[in-house]
Amino acid sequence: MNAVIKMRIGVFDSGLGGLTVLEALIKKNPQNEYVYFGDTLNIPYGDKSKEELLKLSSKIVKFLESKKVDIIVIACGTLSSNVYSELDDLTTTPIYDILSPTREFLENQKLNNLAVIATEMTIKSGVFGSDIISIACPKIVPLIEAGKSDSEEMQKVLEGYLKDKNIDNLVLGCTHYPLVKEQIKKIKPNINFIDMGEILAENLKIEPSKYQLDLYFSSLNETIKSLVANMFKDYKIEERRL
Ligand code: DGL
Repeated sequence: MNAVIKMRIGVFDSGLGGLTVLEALIKKNPQNEYVYFGDTLNIPYGDKSKEELLKLSSKIVKFLESKKVDIIVIACGTLSSNVYSELDDLTTTPIYDILSPTREFLENQKLNNLAVIATEMTIKSGVFGSDIISIACPKIVPLIEAGKSDSEEMQKVLEGYLKDKNIDNLVLGCTHYPLVKEQIKKIKPNINFIDMGEILAENLKIEPSKYQLDLYFSSLNETIKSLVANMFKDYKIEERRL
């Protein structure tokens, strides 16, 4: 039997988009506990100023801390590209942005006709560099949140953004966009999607030092202590007679 160590992972986004990241994380790490926060009252984030983004997301980070999570995943491209370092400074909980694993992935690939679609603030941040076709798509998120992913209106909006572009590989630079993959495929049937949630889930390394480990032995000696020190980074060890 394999022992399973559980972690509590906090995941958040402006709304429904982060659920695509959560889904990928759960698929890869089903043994963990998850807490999700979607800021559906304040969505969309994609056109908000840095100050507004920081104000809203700071509160969510504090909320997740109060839920005693071990790590936090910012499942939002807009926040990751604009306020990651500020959020990192705000908390002692290890915090991961959604963009870095995808940027690293792209650096190691030679992909032709590569484009990224994302919110205005993500595109404006220049986080994906200049060697990529960059398209800001402010109309997609409000339609998804309004339950109109499968509507004619959505199809028209997507056509407006994508139809006349020569794209073979498309980075879904906003975590909402995996929810309209099928609709994009109707316009570009052979397109290859680069999904940030899937790449993050593939790459997320949970550091052993983040586990809380309390060890008890009814008789403790130096052999046990040195063995434990070789095996674990962070722990408390105690002799306890029952
Ligand atoms: N899902 C978010 C992102 O990845 C934010 C979209 C929005 O609220 O505009 O950028």
